[in-house]
Amino acid sequence: MNKTPVTATSRTRQTPGLFFLLSAAITGYVFYRYSEGWLRSLLLSLSRSIWARRMVTGFGPAWRVASRFIAGESVEEAIAVARQLNAKGLKVALDYLGESVTQAEEANAARDQILLLLDRIHESGVDAYVSVKLSQLGVKIAENLALENLRALLTRARSYGLRVRIDMEESALVDTTFDIYRRLRHGEGFDNVGVVIQAYLYRSEEDVRWLIEEGAWVRLVKGAYKEPPTVAYARKADTDAAFIRLAEQLLSEQARSRGVHLAVATHDDAMIRAVQRYAETHHIPQDAYEFQLLYGIRRERQEQLASQGYCVRIYVPYGTAWYPYFMRRLAERPANLWFFVTNFFRA
Ligand code: FDA
Repeated sequence: MNKTPVTATSRTRQTPGLFFLLSAAITGYVFYRYSEGWLRSLLLSLSRSIWARRMVTGFGPAWRVASRFIAGESVEEAIAVARQLNAKGLKVALDYLGESVTQAEEANAARDQILLLLDRIHESGVDAYVSVKLSQLGVKIAENLALENLRALLTRARSYGLRVRIDMEESALVDTTFDIYRRLRHGEGFDNVGVVIQAYLYRSEEDVRWLIEEGAWVRLVKGAYKEPPTVAYARKADTDAAFIRLAEQLLSEQARSRGVHLAVATHDDAMIRAVQRYAETHHIPQDAYEFQLLYGIRRERQEQLASQGYCVRIYVPYGTAWYPYFMRRLAERPANLWFFVTNFFRA
């Protein structure tokens, strides 16, 4: 990632593209009032665009906005942020940013960086586990490559008593992700691996059934990718209803007695309150589940929940490959987009 200010020459070269991106963003913001889904789709499409990535990451002020959501570039910066959060009573999930690698060398390099991260978590004693993406470990190159890389991570993590959660990516990867998860968890006995369920996918109702059956370690999210209506709810209200339904199933007596541990990952107060109400009504202790929020989002709420005795974990990304993660955060929150656009003008 280039954090240095762009030169006059490079900026001139980028100008038409920058204006295009700016116009797209501003037009998007105006249209947002009429069609929230349209803006979300535009930003999620840009998150996969190579030219948009080059343009945004090559423009210094973009980092100023992105760094609100990202702990830094190095493992030491990530550990320092984890330590600060721990001091406030917040647990951490560390994520070495990267996804959709196309070369085996990149996948292996990511694995090595995450091994280093596990070493540093152990040595520093911070209260943190690790989140990984299979596309970062090479699943789009070969399933076996990702399997082997994940096995190496789980082995190192287990030797330190640490856990590794597999983030869930686009719907085309869900079957493969669960396949690799099952092979490592059941085939090879790794009990330190967890998965993610996306409430917007229709299939999640079915997936939650078998995850409960096996007493899995599950993070429930709404889902952050651009998905067609053939596989995912298009309306926020439907996703929200599914989120609450799935949370209640994963918190049920049956699920808890089988060993399910649920992480409720959302910034949405309506979801948080629904889970709190369900837990209170069913006398579920606060330490039987946890809330998870993203680094830099709703900081006061994070601390408030912790001060009320809830277990709260903050997902902390770091590294140089921040572009797609950042664009997904913009897609979720138009106010962040506005902040981004005004920074372009100030630069
Ligand atoms: P949503 O975006 O629906 O917003 C609802 C309401 O929440 C808003 O109206 C507002 O009140 C409040 N809110 C949201 N953002 C806010 C902000 N920035 N400031 C103030 N209020 C805000 N996705 C995925 O597909 N795979 C994964 O593995 C993960 N992993 C993951 C881990 C963790 C810890 C979290 C928190 C999220 C993920 N996600 C994810 C992302 C997830 O799928 C989803 O896209 C985002 O969490 C946004 O959805 P929310 O539930 O936060 O609310």
